[in-house]
Amino acid sequence: MSAIELESIDTILKSINSAIRGKKLYPAGHPAIAAPMTKSYQTLSELLRARNKIFIGMAKDVLVFEENPIMDGDKNLGEFIHRLKQKEIEGIIFEKGLLQKEFFSFIDILLIDDMLKGRELQQMLASKNILHISIKSLQTGRNILETYQDAVAAVRETMNQVRMGKVPKTWDMLTKVVSGMTELVLSDKNAMIGLTMIKNYDGYLFNHSVNVSILSIAIAQSMNHQKADLHTIGIAGLLHDVGKTGVTEDIIKKPGILSSSEWDTVKEHPVLGSKIIERMEGMTALISRLVYEHHMRYDRSGYPHTELPLHPLSMIITTADAYDALTTLRVYQKPYHPVEAIKIMNNLSGKHFEPNTLKSFVAMVGLYPIGTLIRLSTNEIGIVTKISPSGNLSPVVKVIVGADGKQADKSYEIDLSVGGKNAPTIAAPVDPLTKGLDIGKFFEEEAQAATL
Ligand SMILES: [Fe+2]
Ligand SMILES: [Fe+2]
Repeated sequence: MSAIELESIDTILKSINSAIRGKKLYPAGHPAIAAPMTKSYQTLSELLRARNKIFIGMAKDVLVFEENPIMDGDKNLGEFIHRLKQKEIEGIIFEKGLLQKEFFSFIDILLIDDMLKGRELQQMLASKNILHISIKSLQTGRNILETYQDAVAAVRETMNQVRMGKVPKTWDMLTKVVSGMTELVLSDKNAMIGLTMIKNYDGYLFNHSVNVSILSIAIAQSMNHQKADLHTIGIAGLLHDVGKTGVTEDIIKKPGILSSSEWDTVKEHPVLGSKIIERMEGMTALISRLVYEHHMRYDRSGYPHTELPLHPLSMIITTADAYDALTTLRVYQKPYHPVEAIKIMNNLSGKHFEPNTLKSFVAMVGLYPIGTLIRLSTNEIGIVTKISPSGNLSPVVKVIVGADGKQADKSYEIDLSVGGKNAPTIAAPVDPLTKGLDIGKFFEEEAQAATL
C-alpha cells in the first residue's frame, strides 16, 4: 500500500471524526458538518476507484486500515473510535459503488444513541438500503450458530406455508437471516463453510437449502460480486428447492430409481418454485429467475430445457447445490467424501458447471475442503477447518485423534502450510462414517465454543 493511500485514509478518518463532532455541536446542514462529510466521501470514492473494498478496523483500541495501524498521535480520531466501541463495531468494509447517500446515512446511524449494536446494526444497514457498507461486529462468534438455526427455521416456515396452500409471508424473516449470513461469510467464512457440514437426514430439504445459500453467498463473495448480488443469491439459495414442496414425500424419499413419470414430477420443481416466488411479497424477478435456472446446467443438458444464456448467479447456485448434494447422505446415495466430490465436480467443468465459477469455488474450499477428515503423516487424524491463503493443498487442520488411535485429550490446530523439516503432511482422506464421527456436529460444537 502506498503512502498516498495511507494519507487518504488519514483524511477520510479525520473528516469523519470532524463530522461526528460537528453533528453534536451544530444543526444539520451546517458547513462544519457538510464540508467534512463531503470531503471524506470524495476521498473514499477516489480510493475505491482503484480497489474493490476498503477495510477499516479496530484492533486492541487501535484503528487499522487493512493490516496497517493508524497512529492517532494528535488524538484526532477520538470521537470516531468512541462510536465504534460503543456500537461494538470491529470493522467497516466500504465497497466499490458506494453512493453518497449511503455514506451519509451510515454516519447518521453511527450517531444514533440507541441500543442497536453489532449484528442488529448490520441488519439495519440492509433495511436502510445501505448496500455498499458492511460492518463486522464483536458479537460474531456468539451468533454464528444462532444465525444458521434461524435460517433453517425461516426455510421451514416458508415451506410449511406453501404446503398449507398459502403464499408465504416470510420475506422479512428471510432477508434478516440472509443479512446475518452475509455478514458472517464476510467476517468468518471458514466457520460458516464449516457449518454447511451440518446435514440433517430428516430435515434434509431445510438444511440443504441453508447450506446452498451459505455456499452461494461465499462463492459470489469470492468472485467479487457486489453486496446486492450476495443478498439476491442468498435468498435464491434458501428458496431454490421451494418447488419441492409440490413433490410428494414418497417420491423425494424413494430409494432406488424413479419411474419416468416420478422423474417428470421432480423436474417440475424449478418451475413450481419460481412461480411460488413470483407471488411472494418482496421477491424480485431475478430471484425467481435464479430458482428457475438452477438445474439447467452450463451445457444446458439439465432441465427445464433452454437455449438462452443463463444468469451468472445461477451458475453459482448450481455449483453450491451439487457440492452439498454430493456430500450428503441420501436414501439413494452414500455421501461422497469432500475430496471425491471436488474431483467429480472438476470432471464436469464446462459441462454441468461454468468453469470460472467452479474454479473460484475450489480455490475457496481447497482440494481438501473445509470439513474433510484426513490422516496425517504422523498417523494423527484431524478435520480441515481453514484454508491457508498460501496454498489449497496445505490447510489448517484440527487434530482430534492422536497417533495412538485414541481421541485426543485436547484437540489442537496445526497449519500445514507452515512446513519445516518434520512438519506433518496429509497422508490420506478418511471416511468419517468408519470412525463414527459426525463432522457437522464437530462444527456445531466449534461454533458453540466460540460463544463462551
Ligand atoms: Fe433443485
Ligand atoms: Fe437443491
